Amino acid sequence: MSKTIAPSHSEKNHPEKPTSSRRSFLKGALSAAAVATVTTSTSSNVFASEQASMAGIVYTKENPGKWAKKVGSHLPSITIKGQNVTVNTNHGMSTKHFIVRHTLVSKDGETLGEKTFTPDSEEATSSYTLPEGYKGKLYATSFCNKHDFWLAETKV
Ligand SMILES: [Fe+2]
Repeated sequence: MSKTIAPSHSEKNHPEKPTSSRRSFLKGALSAAAVATVTTSTSSNVFASEQASMAGIVYTKENPGKWAKKVGSHLPSITIKGQNVTVNTNHGMSTKHFIVRHTLVSKDGETLGEKTFTPDSEEATSSYTLPEGYKGKLYATSFCNKHDFWLAETKV
């Protein structure tokens, strides 16, 4: 007796399905966030609407929380020239106090690049190359060993 796999079943097992599911999930999540944004804020920043519930966990320019005086030295800056992206945190680097890590994250939540620093690193600067034709929002994170996790965004 042979086993028949219906096309729809076959599609469900397609290797790309997890990505497709993830995208659908993201779209759903983004829609939900967008609805929340409409009722609570005029911002079109999806992360911003999520940040309200991330207070004390993720720090941003808009929501620096207890680190309001630390924005200038902890919020990562994102500079884009063509396909090249530079992330910088204007923060000193010493054994006791330094920037631990940067990441660059796509609008779909994929890590496009990351760099881990040490106290010996000269500065908290990292460089990345965007995927060909990348358009949309782009996120940078910066983690200080004393002043926690910061998130900045821009648009390509
Ligand atoms: Fe710091």
